[in-house]
Amino acid sequence: MSHAEEDHEGDRRDFLFYATGGAGAVVAGAAVWPLVNQMNPSADVLALSSIQVDVSSLEPGTQLTVKWLGKPVFIRRRSAEEIEAARDVDLSELPDGIARNENLGEVEAVDANRTLDEAGEWLVMMGVCTHLGCVPLGDAGDFGGWFCPCHGSHYDTAGRIRRGPAPTNLPVPVATFVDDTTIQLG
Ligand code: FES
Repeated sequence: MSHAEEDHEGDRRDFLFYATGGAGAVVAGAAVWPLVNQMNPSADVLALSSIQVDVSSLEPGTQLTVKWLGKPVFIRRRSAEEIEAARDVDLSELPDGIARNENLGEVEAVDANRTLDEAGEWLVMMGVCTHLGCVPLGDAGDFGGWFCPCHGSHYDTAGRIRRGPAPTNLPVPVATFVDDTTIQLG
């Protein structure tokens, strides 16, 4: 369960901290913050903008799906095999060579640019197919990652599109570890 559901005040504080810290460090943050400020959103909206997820129960090779900003987010703790499979891919094999990671900007889609941690164990992605928006299935498809049954898009264990009509990799949202077992989205 996210903290947003438990403690709105706490997450409002977290969001404000992030927005203040992010404005200096991230160019996009500087552009977004005045707009948010001007709109003067309610505390509820601010709380939803940033949630914290307890991932302590996730074993390697499993994932959980949380709802954030009305959309599913996949949080996967990858097994050693999944990490190896994702890293053992030549960039020239990828239909979309851009990482699509909001934490990094426009960088190439090597596995290390997709994951939250250096070891590559943690992968956080929007669970929305980049073709027409269906929710892909985990542990499925020809590349051992995700499969979208709507029109047959196959994603690998880094969430990169490998085959099918989806044009781009599954997006990696702004995310960070706030402690050893808690991931903050937004
Ligand atoms: S919506 Fe996923 S393949 Fe079309």
